[in-house]
Amino acid sequence: MSTADKLARLEELRREARLGGGAERIEQQHARGKLTARERMELLLDEDSFRELDAFVTHRASDFGLDEERYLGDGVVTGHGTIDGRPVFAYSQDFTVFGGSLSETHAEKICKVMDLAMENGMPVIGLSDSGGARIQEGVVSLGGYAEIFLRNTLASGVVPQISLVLGPCAGGAVYSPAITDFTIMVDGSSYMFVTGPNVVKTVTHEEVDFEGLGGARIHNERSGVAHFLAAGEPQALELARRLTSYLPPNNIDLPPRLADWDPPTSAPETLDLLIPDSAQRSYDMHTAIVGIVDRESFLEVHAHFARNIICGFARIEGRSVGIVAQQPEVLAGVLDIDASDKAARFVRFCDCFNVPLVTLVDVPGFLPGVEQEHRGIIRHGAKLLYAYCEATVPKVTVITRKAYGGAYDVMSSKHIRGDFNFAWPTAEIAVMGVEGAVNIVFRDRIAAARDPEAERVALIAEYEERFANPYIAAGRGYIDEVIRPAETRERIASALSVLEGKRQSLPAKKHGNIPL
Ligand code: HXC
Repeated sequence: MSTADKLARLEELRREARLGGGAERIEQQHARGKLTARERMELLLDEDSFRELDAFVTHRASDFGLDEERYLGDGVVTGHGTIDGRPVFAYSQDFTVFGGSLSETHAEKICKVMDLAMENGMPVIGLSDSGGARIQEGVVSLGGYAEIFLRNTLASGVVPQISLVLGPCAGGAVYSPAITDFTIMVDGSSYMFVTGPNVVKTVTHEEVDFEGLGGARIHNERSGVAHFLAAGEPQALELARRLTSYLPPNNIDLPPRLADWDPPTSAPETLDLLIPDSAQRSYDMHTAIVGIVDRESFLEVHAHFARNIICGFARIEGRSVGIVAQQPEVLAGVLDIDASDKAARFVRFCDCFNVPLVTLVDVPGFLPGVEQEHRGIIRHGAKLLYAYCEATVPKVTVITRKAYGGAYDVMSSKHIRGDFNFAWPTAEIAVMGVEGAVNIVFRDRIAAARDPEAERVALIAEYEERFANPYIAAGRGYIDEVIRPAETRERIASALSVLEGKRQSLPAKKHGNIPL
């Protein structure tokens, strides 16, 4: 064969590999409103940056007629490329080949890029669209999944891992996205469940469809399995790019600092007017966040789940930060089971990847109630406490209004190694809310008074005057400075600047035992 023929053969094989399961199945994929594995890769990565690996790998199975059906690449496109010029490894399951199902070789390809990502300290982005284990390969396929789960776990906290679920993701396959740091789902076209609607019907007699069981909305709003809800695949892929922009490539490096940034649109003084005069009235904590961080830099994580707490990435003077903030507009910003789980995982992610934490506190406490107690608010609330205690990244806290009870301690207080703890003059730091406190402490005095209601009101005013402010805490140094809301951005920026070289370590141990 001449050299020219050999070159032509390579081109021919490349063409064949690019076709995956063939033109007809590509058409079917498009007809479902879905992109192909390669089209997704192109949208995810910078133009012309994708370098494919293992494009000529085929499966090794021969049972059930598989020896007569082989496709180059075996149902997954793997390789590396760049996002905003920064390298990442990625894989994208190809539904046109055996429904993107996972064979031994398919798993080996994914493991190869995961190993390369780990060894070279780069993020891994996985795009899944798969019928699950390649049924014809049986336990070999299950072994392949386990190899991936192991790597997901070993890579956890070493390199960021982002999953996009862009089609079916069922059975044990769901546990790969579940172990990774973030899961993005597409409204209407992706679903995740451990057992599908048919099995559910057989076992529990519940009638439910794919969407209702494990669609993108369910996992974003109810279960918290997914962190981002995208309106379509291009938006999902753009979200993955944006998310990556806040993150370092691995746990050793620092997040990138952007040279180009703009201050918030609103003047700092507008924050001075944010807190309502009445403690019973709420306000939108997003206003505070947007008023503090660089313009248009806030990317909310888990925006639809446990909305009483807000988590997200942002930048302050170009530096990445992780924001955790109560949302007084939802359940008065109370800490319940879901909010604790959501924030704990976010805090731990930031701590793994050197993203400083900025915590905005307006918390009336943990949610009381039989349901919460019986479901284990103690165990779940402890996760958030543990996560903050353990975090050694720079921690800057601003108490905007309420910081009551155990929730005061939990929310990155000075006592658990908050580096800079600020409070607005509107802060109320106390064991509990004013009314509750007065009713308990002065119960006898109120009952004995000639006019109990007048006595109660007088005691509330007195208690409020003495305790519902930040100055007792500031007098003890638990609050480093009481600041005007308008000064918040500047103070946080200065804090982040001096904390840049922060080094704090934990006692030597194999690993802690977070209350799961
Ligand atoms: C082999 C599979 C496959 C699989 C789909 N295909 N799933 N081949 N193994 N798991 C093939 C189909 O035969 C078909 O081939 C092509 O992919 C497209 O599938 P369709 O059924 O035509 O597509 P659609 O109607 O869109 O339905 C998609 C689907 C369905 C819902 C994913 O295919 C399905 O239910 N598949 C089986 C899912 C499943 O039970 N998997 C095992 C789950 S347990 P042709 O040649 O016709 O194009 C599991 C355990 C993981 O995964 C354990 C980890 C520890």
